[in-house]
Parts: sequence; structure tokens; C-alpha cells
Amino acid sequence: ARLVVLVSGGGSNLAALLDACADPTYGATVVAVGADRDSAGGLALAADAGVPTFVEKVPDHPTRDAWDAALTARVTVHQPDLVISAGFLKLVGPTFLAAFGDRYLNTHNTLLPAFPGIHGPRDALAYGVRVTGATLFFVDAGVDTGPIVAQTPVPVLDDDDIDALTERIKVAERAQLVDCVGRLARQGWTITDRKVTIP
Ligand code: GRF
Repeated sequence: ARLVVLVSGGGSNLAALLDACADPTYGATVVAVGADRDSAGGLALAADAGVPTFVEKVPDHPTRDAWDAALTARVTVHQPDLVISAGFLKLVGPTFLAAFGDRYLNTHNTLLPAFPGIHGPRDALAYGVRVTGATLFFVDAGVDTGPIVAQTPVPVLDDDDIDALTERIKVAERAQLVDCVGRLARQGWTITDRKVTIP
């Protein structure tokens, strides 16, 4: 399966996917990495791995819809079976979802539907939950609302701070992403009434 990975940050999830894809039995290849900013560390990881990269910045476009259309075109060129948001900090729009809505994955660092948005671990810690975790889901038009592929629980420890909890969730998140992307790539999937099935 052909993967396009979108990043904004350090790219540790991308690094885990690149490692997994080095094994031919994994069943997937990262064919391109895209970012919304030049500073995304994932771009350098991709370049080191010989994977083509592209950057599409919102401020380079007159409207958000124009950016969305440009991003869609950039991804479409690579004919992906799966597009993966791995710490991509932009919400895509209707053009992108029309093209990739049933094959655009995102990983979130809480157990959805609790604590959506960019401050998940902070919000979970502030609320006082004793268990949070990682959620992999197919993106829909809402914010962190799409059909869930998998969830991995992570306990909150008594002495956790935001950084410690965030890092522990990321370990679970990477393992979940690598496991699920491989199974989706090798076995395919169906989505019926929000229920994701990997045969
Ligand atoms: C992940 O924890 C994701 O849930 C959050 O940002 C992190 C991305 O990390 N939205 P990285 O760039 O893959 O290291």
C-alpha cells in the first residue's frame, strides 16, 4: 500500500512508520511526506530516507479553501491508498475530505471522544482522569470525531506532569499506528455506520 504522511512537528510517528516500512513483509511504503511548514522535523527524516517531500503553507494561499485544494493536488499526485496525519496540525477542508475522506487517518493523544483538540494530555491531566491513551481514527468533517480504528489505554500516574504523560502516550501511539497501518495496508478495511472493520 502507498502511504502519504503529513507532519507539522518532530515526526516521531513518521520515523516509526519509516522503520516499519523497511520490512518488505509490512506491506506498505511511504511514497511522500508533506508538511504545512518548513520547520517540520519530519521533512528532514523523510529526506534522509530518500522519500520525496512537499510543503504547502496556508499563508501562501488567498483562502483556506485554496490551500485545501492545493494540498489535495499535492497528495493526489502520489496516488496514496492511505494518507496519515502524524502530528499534522491543520484541519483539512472539504476538497481534501472528498478525495481522501475514507482513507485519511489521524492519531490523537487521548482516548476520544474525551479531550479532543491540540491540548489533549494537558486537558486529561487537568480533569483528573486515571486512564487516557491513544486513538487512531479516520478523519471526518469534525474535530477528532471520525470513525475509530483502535484505542490503546495509558494509565495516568500519580506524579505525572504534562510532559511525562505526553511522552508515555506517544510510545503507545507509535506502536498502535505501526500495527494498525500494517493491518489496514495488508488486509484493507470497511467503514459501516462508523464501525471500522479490518477483515
Ligand atoms: C502526537 O502525539 C499526536 O497525537 C499529536 O502530536 C504528536 C505528533 O508527534 N497531535 P510527532 O511529530 O509524530 O513526533
